[in-house]
Amino acid sequence: MMRAALVLVAFTATFTLCVPTGTSVVAAANGSALEVVELQDNPIEMSDESIRAGRQVYGRFCRSCHGLRADGAGMTAPPGSMPANLVDDEWDHGSTDAEIFTVIKEGVAPKFDMDAWDGRVSDDDIWHVINFLRDLASE
Ligand code: HEC
Repeated sequence: MMRAALVLVAFTATFTLCVPTGTSVVAAANGSALEVVELQDNPIEMSDESIRAGRQVYGRFCRSCHGLRADGAGMTAPPGSMPANLVDDEWDHGSTDAEIFTVIKEGVAPKFDMDAWDGRVSDDDIWHVINFLRDLASE
């Protein structure tokens, strides 16, 4: 029994490594079948409501470092930190919504000047912030 579980874990890990970067995939072992569910890129549709919700989250948690216009010029960023411009075309940690979502949720190691917001900002609110930033970048 124990051995079967270990083999399954090893197989799942190998499988996940083969997935192209930029796609978030959840692999779930289900009896003998391996079920793969691909996470939608951004499950929350772009809308005025979403942008408004994202703006609120941004103002509360992100603006101090990333700045009023999200160009990285925050007034109270920790000394020596270099908050990213979030409205240009440069993404150091991936440019898809799913990758940006992961950065916001898990932070940027090892310094974590960009903190992990998991637990303080809900998943829905992270997607809203991404919609807000996409909209801001398109202006
Ligand atoms: C204490 C300052 C600080 C706060 C607050 C902060 N960030 Fe950051 N953020 C940073 C720094 C510094 C980086 C650059 C990290 C690196 O690449 O080393 C960064 C990077 C990022 C990136 C990656 C950009 C890229 O080029 O890939 C995203 C996305 C991001 N932040 C979004 C957010 C969001 C959304 C919030 C609010 C929930 C937030 N940040 C709050 C400091 C902060």
